[in-house]
Amino acid sequence: MEPILVVRGLKTEFLTSRGLLRAVDEVDLEIRKGEVLGLVGESGCGKTVTALSIMHLLQHPPARIAGGEIWFRGLNLLAGSDEDIRVVPRTSGPPRFLPADDLLRKHRARMNRVRGHGISMIFQEPMSSLNPVLRVGYQVAEVLMFQRRQEICDRLLSRRDLTEADLDLFRQAVASGEASERERLVAEFCVRSGLRPEKIHALIDASGLPIDERIARVQRLAVRRRRGGGWWLRFLKRLDTMEETHFAREWERLSRLSLGQPAVDLFDPKKNPRAKGLPPLATVSPQPDALRLYFHSAVGSGGDRRKGDLLVPSEDLRARVEAHLRESASGVFGAIFGIVKSVGVTEDAIELRYQEPSTDLFRTETELWSRRLLYRFVTSIPGLRSVLTRPIEEEARRHVVELFRLVRIPEPTKVYDAYPHELSGGMQQRVMIAMALAGEPALMIADEPTTALDVTTQAQILWLLKDLRTRIDSAILYITHDLAVIAELSDRVAVMYAGKIVEDAPVADLFANPLHPYTQGLLQSIVSTEGQGLEPGAALPTIPGVVPDLLAPPSGCRFHPRCKFAFDRCRVEEPKLLAHGPNRRVACHLYPEEGASATT
Ligand SMILES: Nc1ncnc2c1ncn2[C@@H]1O[C@H](COP(=O)(O)OP(=O)(O)OP(=O)(O)O)[C@@H](O)[C@H]1O
Ligand code: SF4
Ligand SMILES: [Mg+2]
Repeated sequence: MEPILVVRGLKTEFLTSRGLLRAVDEVDLEIRKGEVLGLVGESGCGKTVTALSIMHLLQHPPARIAGGEIWFRGLNLLAGSDEDIRVVPRTSGPPRFLPADDLLRKHRARMNRVRGHGISMIFQEPMSSLNPVLRVGYQVAEVLMFQRRQEICDRLLSRRDLTEADLDLFRQAVASGEASERERLVAEFCVRSGLRPEKIHALIDASGLPIDERIARVQRLAVRRRRGGGWWLRFLKRLDTMEETHFAREWERLSRLSLGQPAVDLFDPKKNPRAKGLPPLATVSPQPDALRLYFHSAVGSGGDRRKGDLLVPSEDLRARVEAHLRESASGVFGAIFGIVKSVGVTEDAIELRYQEPSTDLFRTETELWSRRLLYRFVTSIPGLRSVLTRPIEEEARRHVVELFRLVRIPEPTKVYDAYPHELSGGMQQRVMIAMALAGEPALMIADEPTTALDVTTQAQILWLLKDLRTRIDSAILYITHDLAVIAELSDRVAVMYAGKIVEDAPVADLFANPLHPYTQGLLQSIVSTEGQGLEPGAALPTIPGVVPDLLAPPSGCRFHPRCKFAFDRCRVEEPKLLAHGPNRRVACHLYPEEGASATT
């Protein structure tokens, strides 16, 4: 499976008063889609700094990413973060130079998109990561509103039913003499109803219609909107009847037709007395031998581009249709009416269907209510933020409650309104996990999420992460110093020591046969149910010494002062992280580069 995150040669430094501290030094990592990679190592070895470097959450200064690459789904997250990429290559002409500020701005914008939706993080200390003065539910909702506003808006609109309060807004808009007030009312109504502003404006403008009729039309639009799907406008024979009914004014502007009575109603004798005697819709469905003509033409003074197709059911009409299209090449409506008239003398029907919803005036009744357009329209008007914010917040709240349920928070609606200090450590961590899940990230980084919790709650959170892992498709970088947790959760393990990866391997291989002396030491120092062959009462083996000071790390292999296998070469030459078999890598002079022989 392809990796979603590739870290190559990452170097992160801190400029401290005592000198340069290389916290992360040439770190290489790879995480594949849906995989759990455990990152393990003693305290101070650089696990958190690696994670924060990936998230670009380190304060600069004192921190600085001094080199390497971080690729996330094919995007180099480090590009532009420094001053190094100033030249933008172009296919023609000289390369363009971007000022460093521009690059930085772009980089920040890109990271804002990646964080939350691409990569999210669960921090070590929930209490210090949650804002103590904001309700926890709102803190999660904020992620949704920032990262998935469009989706929240869509959800909101798709379930909206028209209420009497909504229709009141429409009535007020019709009655309002103030253009700006009307604009505001229309926008608010559109947000609430999910109907397109153009349609609503047109209905407000339809001054000949009584208000009840306009309301009835708004309701019909809403019903259609909820049903979704397109419908076709059918031109039947007896064009004169239809013309009289619907094309009386500006009949060449077909938009009038859709703004008036919906076409399906035209043929319903109950709704349209003139439809008596016309064949019911079912009988005019397309014939198998229909002639379909595609057209694409520029019409109107604004040069609207329209494309669509004409379905002419009878083969013998082909010549006539083609002639009309030839004659009226510049105006598609001319051709259509020519054809309609031709057909009008037969028992046949023509179906006209547009393909582009944005220019399709016939399908506006149903498909032109594009939520995306509506959203853009509403958000483009300054001052409408307050109108939008409330319903969006309500929708986000519903979503957060669902997330709380997913992470097994009891009484999620109550917890939504709680402040962090009112929750237990386990609950706070669940809120953090919900927050990390809110953006539906491709990768979650969990930095020792259970360290601050008691053993029972730790087990619950681990179980939850395991369960979530099977339900969501996120990859997880799980950081811990606890190998037992790694064994429980991970697919692969990377072992870190003093700012470097010293070994990585599939979890089963690492536990069955640890290669690096540091990994061996870590494994020996955990309590196992089988025992370590120790005498009763004997102390567990530990790794002698302490993690080195990264301001002045040991020469050669950084582990050599603590390694019982160390030999001369280890003190002078730093081992490289090299492949050992198909799935493993190790950085130790005990293991020769594949193809070379060991020098001990
Ligand atoms: N803001 C900072 N300024 C200076 N040094 C720092 C800073 N943050 C971290 N370090 C140093 O970077 C090194 C790596 O720290 P890091 O927090 O990544 O360790 P860790 O592996 O996550 O440890 P733990 O398991 O205790 O969380 C340590 O030596 C630490 O002292
Ligand atoms: S390189 Fe040498 S000092 Fe380092 S872990 Fe291997 S044997 Fe020990
Ligand atoms: Mg840490």
